[in-house]
This record gives sequence, C-alpha cells and structure tokens, in this order.
Amino acid sequence: CKRIVLDCDPGVDDSIAIFLALASPDKIMIDVITIVMGNHKDIDLLAYNACLLLQMCNMSSDIPVINGANKPLACAYHGHSGIKVHAQNGIGNVKYPVKNLNRNPVEQYKSMSAAQFIVQHVLANPGEITLRAIGPLTNIALAVPIGGGKFIKSVRRVVIMGNSIGGFGNETVATEANLANDPHAGRNVFDAFNNITMVGLNCTRQLPLKILQPWNDSPCFNDPTAIMYLIRPDLFESQHACVDVEDSGRLTTGQTVAD
Ligand code: BDR
Ligand code: CA
Repeated sequence: CKRIVLDCDPGVDDSIAIFLALASPDKIMIDVITIVMGNHKDIDLLAYNACLLLQMCNMSSDIPVINGANKPLACAYHGHSGIKVHAQNGIGNVKYPVKNLNRNPVEQYKSMSAAQFIVQHVLANPGEITLRAIGPLTNIALAVPIGGGKFIKSVRRVVIMGNSIGGFGNETVATEANLANDPHAGRNVFDAFNNITMVGLNCTRQLPLKILQPWNDSPCFNDPTAIMYLIRPDLFESQHACVDVEDSGRLTTGQTVAD
C-alpha cells in the first residue's frame, strides 16, 4: 500500500481522483490532503471542497486537510483552467448532499502551512511517502527550501499530473494548466527531484470520456489517471528522460522540455 500526500486543487477531476484513491485502500493510503490554488484562487473554498468530499465518503475525521499556497511563487494568479472549467464553486456548481461540515477547513492546522507539514511528515517517514501532485507545484516547491537535501532524499517518489511529453498544452499551445498556473514552481520541483513521474496530457488524453465528447473537445480523466498510475502501474508505459521547465519564454513559459 502506497502512502501519499495528495496535493490538489479540488477541482472536478481532482474530486474524482480523491474518490478513486479512497476507493482503493489496499493500494493507496492518503495520509493528508494539502491544498494549493489553481482551479480556484480561494484556497479556503478548495479546502472546503476537499472536506466535503471526505465527509461524503464518511472519512471526515480520518484525513487532515491543510491549506497551502494561495498564489504562485513568482507571477500573478492567472486562473488557467479555473472557474471556466470547474465553475464558481470549483466542483462544477454541483450541490452535494452535505448540510454541515463536521469540521472547519479553514481553522484546521492554521499554525502550519502545507509546505511545512509536507516536510515534517516526509522526514518523520523517510522513504515512505509519495508526493502526488494534481495541481500547480507551488506547495512542493515551497517545501524544498524548508526541508533541503534531507527532505528531497526522504521523498519516496513525486508523481505529478502536468504538462506533456511533446511540449503541447491545454491552456496554451505549449503549456498545461497546472504548469501554466505556476511555471516557476514547476521549474524548481523538476530541478530539485530526480525521481519524478510525470503523467502528462500525452498519457491522460488516451482516456477520453467518450460519452461527453460532444460537449467539450477534450473531456479527459486528467487527475484520476495520475492516481490510477499508483493503483495499476502495469497499465502504463514510462520512459526515463531529463525534463526541464521553461520559466522565461515569451510564448512558452511553463512548457516542459524532455530530452
Ligand atoms: C489539470 O488542470 C486542472 O484543471 C485539473 O484539475 C488538472 O489537474 C489538467 O490540465
Ligand atoms: Ca487538479
């Protein structure tokens, strides 16, 4: 069973990814959910969504939800993907059948940021924890200078949903939304770790939701596909590559370049 920190911005497809992880307890154990801006800039709302989803699954007291970065490292919040895809409430404006939350997502762990928690948790469990990032990489990038080399070495693996091999995107021609929302964090994370698995659009687009095809040109299971990689790695083919992230291109900021 793989223990994960699930770093996310819930998010329509993040929600399905959370459900999928919770439905696979023999393969994945979510130790903590950390929240990053991305699909919405209001991280309290995104934390609320995570708590709501956990409560619907009767997991409300088991998994901590911790607020993280509310802005990108070095640029303004652009809201790539954002409410045009995930709607005003971040989860497709669906009203879930939960009247009151059992906990206050904003009050929880107020004294510790997601980045601090990630470092503390990884150092307490060296070699055990996979960082599963299905939003912008800001929290992970912020954890790197806090934890330094010891932290980096203690992370079992980083698995991200983001960008593509081949350099195409869904937000711009060159960039996928998670990297577009914080290209500098992306660059720092790819610089720091050499044990990253990138589940990019070239992979997730092999799983279109055919029934929704007439409504949208690329309805894909982006985030759940990256969770599926942990559950059924035998369904995936991967390749080793050196990957860097463009953080200062005029037209290509956020693009991953794989050699
Ligand atoms: C990614 O961007 C967000 O809209 C989704 O939640 C997913 O993480 C896909 O490009
Ligand atoms: Ca996401």
